[in-house]
Amino acid sequence: MPKRPAESRPATIRPLAPPQALTAIQRPGAKLPRFFAIPRSAPEDPPVTDPDTPAVRVTDVRLERGGRTVLHDVTLVVPRGGVTAVLGPSGSGKSTLLAALTGELVPAAGSVEIFGEPVPRQQKALLSMRKRLGVLLQGNGLLTDMTAAENVALPLRTHTDLPDAVIRSLVEMKLHAVGLRAAADLYPRELSGGMARRVALARALALDPPLMIYDEPLTGLDPIASGVVMSLVRRLNDTLGLTSIVVTHHVHETMPVADHAIVIANGRIVFTGTPAELAASQDPLVRQFLDGQPDGPIPFDTTARAPEAA
Ligand SMILES: Nc1ncnc2c1ncn2[C@@H]1O[C@H](COP(=O)(O)OP(=O)(O)OP(=O)(O)O)[C@@H](O)[C@H]1O
Ligand SMILES: [Mg+2]
Repeated sequence: MPKRPAESRPATIRPLAPPQALTAIQRPGAKLPRFFAIPRSAPEDPPVTDPDTPAVRVTDVRLERGGRTVLHDVTLVVPRGGVTAVLGPSGSGKSTLLAALTGELVPAAGSVEIFGEPVPRQQKALLSMRKRLGVLLQGNGLLTDMTAAENVALPLRTHTDLPDAVIRSLVEMKLHAVGLRAAADLYPRELSGGMARRVALARALALDPPLMIYDEPLTGLDPIASGVVMSLVRRLNDTLGLTSIVVTHHVHETMPVADHAIVIANGRIVFTGTPAELAASQDPLVRQFLDGQPDGPIPFDTTARAPEAA
């Protein structure tokens, strides 16, 4: 069989992390009476698959936006249990790749599987799959007329029939998990940027998704808040036994907490490997991105979005 070119080689599959003891942050069903623990449309556990099935498998995917190919020949594997960083310059297609994982964007070619299941096209199946994805979008998306606690409760109120008292205690657990129990009654305008990001993180965790996807979680945060958010991403990943994908151009803040790194540039994957391998890479595309050089094989992004996307 011909050897795959380096840029399309999947990331190394690491063995599953051993099940971690859950601490104060429990899955909703764990400590609750059984009749409380089964919501009307619970975020189902992933279908029982071979434990070696990766969290995400993208095979030979082409993604188009506004009639233009943004990413070519994307083949990658995100192993379960780890933190995978998807890096790349602005406009390289990181958010576009995430849109293919959440089913918002249907690939022009190739396949995307989440926990071994193809991302559904049919709306009902897609909504059901999305309950298993915790997504922190670029920008927090907190509702300004709701308190932190009400924001975190929103997915629970929308997707479950849990009684109020149970929702309140779950919200408290989620806020505690991000270190913000005391901020429950504050409105978004009363939160610092870092606190608001953590509330958004608690909301993304509300339905206990096994896969967390963070799109630029550090945008607009100072170095201290960035450190807090990234160590939280790592700690939640390990404590709750999650798989995390962090999309970012903040290489230096992200690499210390990542297990795997994928770099996108010039419309394709140009690197997959460990953070140490990334730091040692001599690939000119990778070096230009890591060293922040304006001149090199990555052109400055000048492609505007198509008008209909504005
Ligand atoms: N909805 C859309 N319609 C048309 N073009 C789009 C759309 N979304 C993204 N694009 C284009 O696709 C390319 C990749 O955009 P994308 O948002 O995925 O980049 P990114 O790597 O996430 O950038 P950033 O780091 O700035 O968030 C850009 O050229 C952008 O203009
Ligand atoms: Mg983006």
